[in-house]
Amino acid sequence: MNDKKLKIGLFGLGVVGQGIWKIIARAKNAHAEIVKICVRDIDKPRGIDVTHDLLTTDGNDILNDPEINLIVEVVDNADASYRYVTEALRRGIPVVSGNKAMIARHLPELIRLQSEHNTALLYDASSCGSIPVIRNLEEYYDNDLLLEVKGILNGSTNFILSRVFDHGEDYQHALRKAQQLGFAESDPSFDVGGYDALFKLVIITVHALGVYVAPDHVFTYGIGNIGDFDIRYAREKGVKIKLVAQVVKVAEEKFTMFVMPEFVSPEKYIYSVDDEYNGVVIRGECYDRQFMFGKGAGSLPTASSILSDVMARRHDYRYEYKKMHYQTLPVYTDDVELRIYIRYRDTDISKLPFIRVREQYTSDDNKYLIGDILLKDLKHNRALLDNPDIFVANIPLFFKDRDTLPE
Ligand code: HSE
Repeated sequence: MNDKKLKIGLFGLGVVGQGIWKIIARAKNAHAEIVKICVRDIDKPRGIDVTHDLLTTDGNDILNDPEINLIVEVVDNADASYRYVTEALRRGIPVVSGNKAMIARHLPELIRLQSEHNTALLYDASSCGSIPVIRNLEEYYDNDLLLEVKGILNGSTNFILSRVFDHGEDYQHALRKAQQLGFAESDPSFDVGGYDALFKLVIITVHALGVYVAPDHVFTYGIGNIGDFDIRYAREKGVKIKLVAQVVKVAEEKFTMFVMPEFVSPEKYIYSVDDEYNGVVIRGECYDRQFMFGKGAGSLPTASSILSDVMARRHDYRYEYKKMHYQTLPVYTDDVELRIYIRYRDTDISKLPFIRVREQYTSDDNKYLIGDILLKDLKHNRALLDNPDIFVANIPLFFKDRDTLPE
């Protein structure tokens, strides 16, 4: 029997930190105890029974404590997270983190630090809350068969879209609810703008294909400009609009990735993924599709993923990043054709170099165009798409011939 005791130093006692406090107390088999917690404000009222003598505002009280053999980091600030995590790794202390922005931006360095200091950084909680997507991609899908990982990776935008689509709620009202329920980031533009999903996609791509693509290189377009016309249009076509992140092998040695709203038809697995739930479709050469579904945001779902990583450390589990050392790695490309819907009214969209225009509609109030365009041309004209007069959605093309459920 493994009688290793984990003495945890916790950074952050916000929504997720409080969930971790509750869940560690209940997890008898974790043999884990939180012995110190670094917070910004010791006197802030919290709805948990944590005693003041565990709290500190000085991160060094955790980093210098020889009793602490695991750091759990869930602070709401990517810069502070980077400082604590890199310092801990340099000292050889293993870390469990949920900070997707920090991890997505610094993953190559974080991988190097783990290797140089013979320690571990686990972060399943960074991607899709309670769904064990990272460890599954790392361990089970360690083969050459993956074709695509695609899904709803952000709970807040999915919650907002569900409220707007299924309950006819006002967009701003739904956003406020997502904030009150602790799903949204402290700056919700990370959710709405698609960046939270982007960070998760960057991390997922490392574990799916063994390739790191920096967030700045990935086309990302959120739901902020969605309007009543788009919702009515989708309803009339019998589809939903979801914010979808995807990494797709487009040729034997090439893959693409992007985040954007997508028209999702009822036969797709992710059509029924509503509210704060996330859903991830993994497609492979021999098994078509597999589907993972679960709560993607919120205190306890995210904390449950942290607990799994904590328990994995009892057995010294670490990611090996085996795929990064494959002989041939696919190369990222944005030279791929997408089919998009673009709704606008007054903006001149003639700068967008459509390869083919398939449909065009004009009324007094709105216009839309459906056409084929290269992803790199969309990227090139990214600033134009932020114009509040415009909304863009992807019409899925990849694997179209195989993308229906069996009869
Ligand atoms: N803001 C994130 C979301 C939290 O809504 O998915 C979980 O990562």
